[in-house]
Amino acid sequence: MIIHNLGDENSVLNQFISEIRDTHIQKDAMRFRRNIERIGEILGYEFSKELAYNSKNIETPLGNKSMHLIQDQVVICSILRAGLPLHQGLLNYFDTAENGFISAFRKHEGDEDNFEVIVDYFAAPSLEGKVLVLTDPMLATGRTLENVLEGLKKHGTPKQIHIVSVIGSQLGIDFVKSVFPTDTHLWIAAVDPELNARGYIIPGIGDAGDLAYGEKL
Ligand code: URA
Repeated sequence: MIIHNLGDENSVLNQFISEIRDTHIQKDAMRFRRNIERIGEILGYEFSKELAYNSKNIETPLGNKSMHLIQDQVVICSILRAGLPLHQGLLNYFDTAENGFISAFRKHEGDEDNFEVIVDYFAAPSLEGKVLVLTDPMLATGRTLENVLEGLKKHGTPKQIHIVSVIGSQLGIDFVKSVFPTDTHLWIAAVDPELNARGYIIPGIGDAGDLAYGEKL
C-alpha cells in the first residue's frame, strides 16, 4: 500500500484537523461537518494527481488551449453515516464521479469492548475498470474497510483503489495494508498511535458520526 500522510507536512490542512480535534470547537456540528468536507477537498486534490489524464482542446473566446483532463471514471463509495461530509468534500471536486453508499455498524456482543462489524446495505454502481475511492473518516481497526472491500467484489474489479481517510490508528493502517491490493493508495490527514478497548482512536476526535449528526440511541 502506498501511504500519503498529508498531515506530516505543514499546510492549512492541519488547521482543519486541529479544529475537529478541539473539544470546544468540535461541538459546533456545522463547523465540524464543513471542516471534514474541507479535508475531503484537500485529500481529493492530492489524490487527483494519481489519476490518468488525456489531452483535450479547449476553445476560449480568443483561441485554443490543449489541456490535460481526467480520463478515469471515479466512483466514490462512502460508509454511512460518518462518511457523508467526507464524501461531499470529494464530490465537490469530482463533478462526474459516480457514487456508492454502504451501511456498516458495530454490533456489540454483551461485552462492550467486543464487536463485530455488520455491513448490510450496498448501493453502488459497477466498479469494473474504474477508480474506486473508498472513504472512511476514522480508520480505527480497519475491519469495516475489509468487510466493504469483500462486499464490493460482486460489483466488478476496479482499475485502482484509493482509500481516503481523515484520522487513522497505526494498527488499523497496518491491518488495511495486509488485506488490500499492494497498489492501493491511502490518503490520510493524520495518524494517531493508539486505539482504546472500544476501538476508538486515541487521541483522535471521539465519535465522528455523533459529532457530525448528533448522538444516536
Ligand atoms: N469511529 C469514530 O467515530 N471514532 C473513532 O475514534 C473510531 C471509529
